[in-house]
Amino acid sequence: KENVPTTIVVFGASGDLAKKKTFPALFHLFQRGLLPKRLRIIGYARTHMSPEEFHKRATSHFNADISQDQIKSFLQHCCYVSGKYDISDDFKKLRKEIESQEQALECSQSSNRIRVYYMALPPSVFVDVATQIKHNVYDSDCINRVVIEKPFGHDLESSRKLSNDIGALFTESEIFRIDHYLGKEMVKNIVTLRFANVFYEAVWNRHYIANVQITFKEPFGTEGRGGYFDEFGIIRDVMQNHLLQVLSIVAMNQPNSLSAEDVRDRKTEVLRRILPIQLEDTLLGQYVANADGTKPGYKDDDTVPKDSITPTFAQCVLHVDNDRWRGVPWVIKAGKALNEAKMLIRIQYKDMPNSLFPNLARNELVIQVSPKESMYIKTIVKEPGLSTNLAMSELDLTYKTRYHDVKIPDAYATLILDVLNGDHSNFVRSDELDEAWRIFTPLLHQIEQEHIVPTPYAYGSRGPEGAYQWTEDRVGYKRTGL
Ligand code: BG6
Repeated sequence: KENVPTTIVVFGASGDLAKKKTFPALFHLFQRGLLPKRLRIIGYARTHMSPEEFHKRATSHFNADISQDQIKSFLQHCCYVSGKYDISDDFKKLRKEIESQEQALECSQSSNRIRVYYMALPPSVFVDVATQIKHNVYDSDCINRVVIEKPFGHDLESSRKLSNDIGALFTESEIFRIDHYLGKEMVKNIVTLRFANVFYEAVWNRHYIANVQITFKEPFGTEGRGGYFDEFGIIRDVMQNHLLQVLSIVAMNQPNSLSAEDVRDRKTEVLRRILPIQLEDTLLGQYVANADGTKPGYKDDDTVPKDSITPTFAQCVLHVDNDRWRGVPWVIKAGKALNEAKMLIRIQYKDMPNSLFPNLARNELVIQVSPKESMYIKTIVKEPGLSTNLAMSELDLTYKTRYHDVKIPDAYATLILDVLNGDHSNFVRSDELDEAWRIFTPLLHQIEQEHIVPTPYAYGSRGPEGAYQWTEDRVGYKRTGL
């Protein structure tokens, strides 16, 4: 594979996503020798930039301790073309550049070539750019792959329209919809954990599991992104995509094989068994300034309308109505400007049947996705020593301790590698996307139409007052302290 000449065009090359994620991920792969040997990376954006300016921008988020020589040799593979997103002549110019770069890579027109079109772009120009690529750049003699980033629409209808528009230009096998949570180490590990270990799968069902919580917490607000965020809100920004994707992997039945289509079939099946989320099963919040005023409220952001009702926090209860999960409540919860950074999956087991011990706490399996990759099982042990009391302890697999020599790659690096290998397993298929919007769209519309005002919570707090009790009451979550 590494000999296939490959051109990666990064659209939006001067933007934030490209700077912060796409180029650092490409560089990470380059450093490890994982990019094809015959490679060109072409940045494309509207800004006029000299090659030096482009190089400076593309490397601005590389770690400071990286050697200049390595950066230099990476940049030898990179060049830049400026152009508008809807002007055919600009795309023809891009095509010429790609072709001359391909010639430099010594590929004959009929040989195997890969072209990746990576759209690090705002959604407003997705379709324009996709159309221009198809009409002015696309070459059916090579393998073409289009990478797009969320947001994929803002509700079911707009997402379907986008899918139809893009689907009219490219086949599903050419499209890679990124949900970067699918590239995270601990999310990728779920399939292995569940289907390579006999003792997880044996109790991975309603007979043993009492409830599941999938939580995303960030300790900062929308600083600098208020304009974008206010159009979307926390449900569209994180829940409809990242959290629901994680849920579908935790909940799916064993796929027939590890092929992308078999895995995505199983994930889609789970989503199909979830009813649209109800407002009464949802708690919404919006952060306000903290008590001493050192941290601003959401609406203090100049780019946010003063009467905004956009939620920055939400938790919802939902059910997967199938034989494995019937009766088990799932909580998905996400919030900005909270007390800590944490993304985790918490699976709480049922009470021990016929227990020898009174008032036993429940076991839990916790998979921490970030910031510290780890897994632990809350396990009851005899208190060590002469005591016969019980104690809650953990079987703990913290990656830093166990795999201290391994550098866990950024999600984007693993996903770009998948694109280069043509592996769709960790990308969202159009039917999954459709189901995800079906689950959230009625709620989102109701919030907007009925002008549901979110409950305020202080920046840096644990969310709206009573949020934890709300979960305990609704899903019967029991705290695990003994
Ligand atoms: C993005 C959201 O998709 O994910 C952001 O738009 C959020 O609002 C981010 O901060 C979180 O990603 P990570 O990888 O930092 O957990």
